[in-house]
Amino acid sequence: MLFSNASTDIFIGNGALSKLSFYGKAVLLSDKTVFHLHGKQVLSYLCPSSLPLVVEPGEQSKTPAVVSTLRDAMVSAQLNRGIPFITLGGGVITDLGGYVSGTYMRGLDLTHIPTTLLGMVDAAIGSKVAINHAKAKNVFGLFYPPKQILIDPNILQTLPKQELENGEAEIIKMGLIYAPKLLKITSLQERIIESIQAKIAIVEKDPYGDALRTILNFGHTVGHAIEASCSFQIAHGRAIILGMLAEGYLSYLLKRLSYQSWQIVYSVLKPFQIDCDIKPQKIMEFISMDKKMDKNTLYMPLLRDIGDVAIHQKIEKKVLYQAVEWVSTWPAIKL
Ligand SMILES: NC(=O)c1ccc[n+]([C@@H]2O[C@H](COP(=O)([O-])OP(=O)(O)OC[C@H]3O[C@@H](n4cnc5c(N)ncnc54)[C@H](O)[C@@H]3O)[C@@H](O)[C@H]2O)c1
Repeated sequence: MLFSNASTDIFIGNGALSKLSFYGKAVLLSDKTVFHLHGKQVLSYLCPSSLPLVVEPGEQSKTPAVVSTLRDAMVSAQLNRGIPFITLGGGVITDLGGYVSGTYMRGLDLTHIPTTLLGMVDAAIGSKVAINHAKAKNVFGLFYPPKQILIDPNILQTLPKQELENGEAEIIKMGLIYAPKLLKITSLQERIIESIQAKIAIVEKDPYGDALRTILNFGHTVGHAIEASCSFQIAHGRAIILGMLAEGYLSYLLKRLSYQSWQIVYSVLKPFQIDCDIKPQKIMEFISMDKKMDKNTLYMPLLRDIGDVAIHQKIEKKVLYQAVEWVSTWPAIKL
């Protein structure tokens, strides 16, 4: 066992899924891709009368309409409060399943089996679950801690490279903002363990996200604007890498970060050669639409050192523009 507190136990390693053999009849939520690859193995641990619920892969399933379909299936199957609810999938499935299980009969016992690297180190950790509205992401949600999280890194063998990169970006971010030793660990399982422990430490200090938890937004103000300005044609992880480069450079420009530390940030992110046509003006327009922006200033976390972030820093638009303009020359950036 990796971690245990009053609400959640986390198991990681080859044998993690064998914990399912104690469950009996359960609900299993997955997406079509993951269910096809790994559903049979998971169902083999459960009672044959278990109820598999399978949705389309991707963000399109994190909607009220899909929630409604899942609720219909659960009511029709006359599921009572004692039935365990298992999610098998990436962040979409942990979010969707957490939302559905947390609101069915005031909450079913929830187990996450994250199958993406991002799900293992981020989405399944921290108890936040949410679905989208057509016009806004993650607007319907709750804090709903799982009883168990079962992580078998072997499940990542079927994950496409781009999806792995999305998780790698989060691991690097965790190294830059909180746990510098992550930047030196090479074993995948050790990187997963260290990232999870760092996220748990942050969440335990700030469970509802008012203060310390905002450091998790490092790289995301510019990163999200890049995603939006590229009409979401760039992978999330790649946009966050560019966002971390811009916000790391901004930290250096504003003299929060020393030149030596900025060089470390740069060298960690440099191996990602990302070919993306970034228009600084367009990115600034998306950032301006961000609710944190007040006329010509906004507030965001900045790096103070490797593993140390200053939260709620006041940033002037023109300096931010300089950093965005600099990152727009990637991958031909010069120090
Ligand atoms: N609640 C939180 O704290 C939190 C944190 C971060 C992200 N999220 C949410 O997570 C979602 C993104 O999660 P994601 O990046 O895992 O995406 P995802 O769940 O959409 O999975 C990405 C793709 O990989 C496929 N896949 C998953 N596991 C696989 C495997 N082992 N082998 C082959 N294919 C596999 C899926 O079918 C899907 O097509 C977003 O909706 C985001 O809002 C939530």
